[in-house]
Amino acid sequence: MDHLTVVDHPLVQHKLTIMRDESTSTGEFRRLLREISQLIAYEVTRELPMTTKRIKTPMVEMDAPTLDGRKLALVSILRAGNGLLDGMLELVPSARVGFVGLYRDEETLEPVQYYFKAPSELDERLVIAVDPMLATGNSSVAAIDLLKKQGAKNIRFLCLLAAPEGVARMKEAHPDVPIVTAALDERLNEKGYILPGLGDAGDRMFGTR
Ligand code: URA
Repeated sequence: MDHLTVVDHPLVQHKLTIMRDESTSTGEFRRLLREISQLIAYEVTRELPMTTKRIKTPMVEMDAPTLDGRKLALVSILRAGNGLLDGMLELVPSARVGFVGLYRDEETLEPVQYYFKAPSELDERLVIAVDPMLATGNSSVAAIDLLKKQGAKNIRFLCLLAAPEGVARMKEAHPDVPIVTAALDERLNEKGYILPGLGDAGDRMFGTR
């Protein structure tokens, strides 16, 4: 898989435009995020290993395709990651789920871990880390560092919007982790927000400010 994949499907782009619009309500934003996450999940899981199993249709026996190997691990980077997680779990209900909680130290500006819980046997699973916004890349890089420390070897990063700065930072720190996004935006502003972006993803999905 390429280091960066932009899912430029018309449905994804249409939904994203509504999400970017500041007049879109919290409920609508959440519903669209759930829908869009399923369309991006479709792309990020495209190369999952397959095998066959013998089944009987009402007509005949056949060797039918089925997913191979251990269940996927979806890892939500709190809190906005949960918005992507919900939709993905509808598509892959048997996935195992982990959470990474990071906050930014106001003095050093470095991400600090406050929560980490991951499924077992991470080294044998495809691990998909989810966070809607790849902005500076600081928290994404830190989250992937933690997952690798726990043994994860096959990781993908799924987001809604990526800034070139965050993509470059990820490529430098984790060149082995492909990024799948709905859009690559222009740049970050001085506060680390993505432009044109959609504002604070967590606030927009949870109605906080
Ligand atoms: N996180 C957000 O929620 N929005 C941005 O624009 C950047 C980081």
